[in-house]
Amino acid sequence: MTGKTIGIMGAMPQEIDGVTALLNNPVRRVIGMRSYTSGTINGINTVVVFSRWGKVAAAATAATLIHVFNVDEIIFTGVAGAIDHSLNVGDIVIAKRLYQHDMDARPLMQQFEVPLLGKTFFECDDSKLNKIREAISPLIIDGILKDRIGADVLAQFGISTPNLHIGDIASGDQFFANNEQKATLQAALPTILCVEMEGAAVAQVCFEHKVAFTIIRTISDAADEQSHIDFPRFIEEVSSKYSVCIIKQLYNTN
Ligand code: ADE
Repeated sequence: MTGKTIGIMGAMPQEIDGVTALLNNPVRRVIGMRSYTSGTINGINTVVVFSRWGKVAAAATAATLIHVFNVDEIIFTGVAGAIDHSLNVGDIVIAKRLYQHDMDARPLMQQFEVPLLGKTFFECDDSKLNKIREAISPLIIDGILKDRIGADVLAQFGISTPNLHIGDIASGDQFFANNEQKATLQAALPTILCVEMEGAAVAQVCFEHKVAFTIIRTISDAADEQSHIDFPRFIEEVSSKYSVCIIKQLYNTN
């Protein structure tokens, strides 16, 4: 047993239920409409919670993990819509920089700048990113995802060999469901790989409390006119299994 405590968050119950099931000696506590389950995974103290959707929900949950459960680190696993055309459904993205795409206090400050922090993004350091890449790569290189999920199930979503990316993620209180939204985001923030609704809020809270964070997203849809159809199917059938595989890799429990 190590002394550190890790918080694991997800924005969909389907994703978080499988991770909660990995906990040894689970103890549940309800705070502020969230159910926090504490236990151990591979001897490491861990608290798992379904955050709900959006930046406020995610920030409140991250703050509770830090203040009530004294976590030293937060890992967020979940899904995202692809923004960069090189990404496909089933790819995994590890966040390098996280932007709040709906933060806009112009003309008081530049677009995306978080007031009083003077930052337009929150960043994960390279040594941490390399460790995470090393831990997760076997899911793809060694075919672990295919074995666990089934090549036939993946094929239904057009996934053959997923790719692993490290890059920029944008978060905001919007579900992207058309190409116009995508184009607007791409014009303003050309390096963005994918879009979701929580990561940069968790990153801000962690930054403010000097807590390490890792945001890992699986691409569930192309953030276009089809996304509201692809997204729920992907959550039910695939992404819950991705989250469990990712956490097992990070905890080295395979
Ligand atoms: N999470 C998964 N797909 C998304 C989308 N299209 N927009 C915002 N968040 C998402």
